[in-house]
Amino acid sequence: MDTGVLPEMIYYSFCGLVGPKCCDCDQGNEAFQKWCSGQEVQDALKKKRLAEIAKNLKFSELPVHWKEKTLESLEGQENLKLTVNRYLDGFQKFREQGTGMYLWSEGSGRGKTHVLSAVCNELIQRYLVPCIFLTEEQMYFRIREAYENHAVSEKKQYRKFMETKCLFLDDLGATKITAWKNEVLTGILDYRLNHRLPTFFTSNFSLQSYELSLQNASIARPCRITSRIYEMCCGFIMEIRGEDFRKKLHF
Ligand SMILES: Nc1ncnc2c1ncn2[C@@H]1O[C@H](COP(=O)(O)OP(=O)(O)OP(=O)(O)O)[C@@H](O)[C@H]1O
Ligand SMILES: [Mg+2]
Repeated sequence: MDTGVLPEMIYYSFCGLVGPKCCDCDQGNEAFQKWCSGQEVQDALKKKRLAEIAKNLKFSELPVHWKEKTLESLEGQENLKLTVNRYLDGFQKFREQGTGMYLWSEGSGRGKTHVLSAVCNELIQRYLVPCIFLTEEQMYFRIREAYENHAVSEKKQYRKFMETKCLFLDDLGATKITAWKNEVLTGILDYRLNHRLPTFFTSNFSLQSYELSLQNASIARPCRITSRIYEMCCGFIMEIRGEDFRKKLHF
């Protein structure tokens, strides 16, 4: 009886294993499906997935404190969790649109960084997306550092923030903006908007007050940044209300 399996072994890159070559007929397809659902292939796929997650977690540079934050570990904030889960479930669509998220609250300890790192963790673990997570200030530091010590070219570092699949910028507007920072940030956001690459932010400013603070710092045309953020985070610009959780933990 024709089994559809040829007397030859070949390498399958999808699982990194050598397996039987199957002919392109019904029996061959069935034999290939059977081999794919076997323990050896399933174990290899699981191992490959875990390796990819570990690589992306390392690449993200997500600090250790934030690596284990999840939406489940966020107390209360039910409406926020619903919206963030809607984003996560629909990520494939939002990714194509280049849609990210802007979380803000005037006060500290409301859980902005907690939620953003939970989103980053989920995108890495569920969707295997390479992400970079850092504060706005750290981003400028990296670019400046590259410029000063020539270890990595400044352009390369700059392009890394422009081109990464998902960029998470924590604490937007936390330190004084300068004309140079403004130029860098506008360039990065402009590129990401044009290439539909999702960008995520936390800030202690609403977008209106952020624009005002840029204006007060004498930044020319401050709306260039905020206008782009409105478009990039359309539907997911959210204020986080509540108390300072850090104080709550203290008592
Ligand atoms: N609703 C919550 N449930 C559980 N833990 C929370 C909640 N809100 C905040 N936390 C915890 O409190 C700490 C402070 O939260 P977080 O750093 O996310 O606040 P933030 O809004 O980013 O503050 P800041 O404006 O100072 O950056 C974190 O350890 C976080 O995990
Ligand atoms: Mg924070």
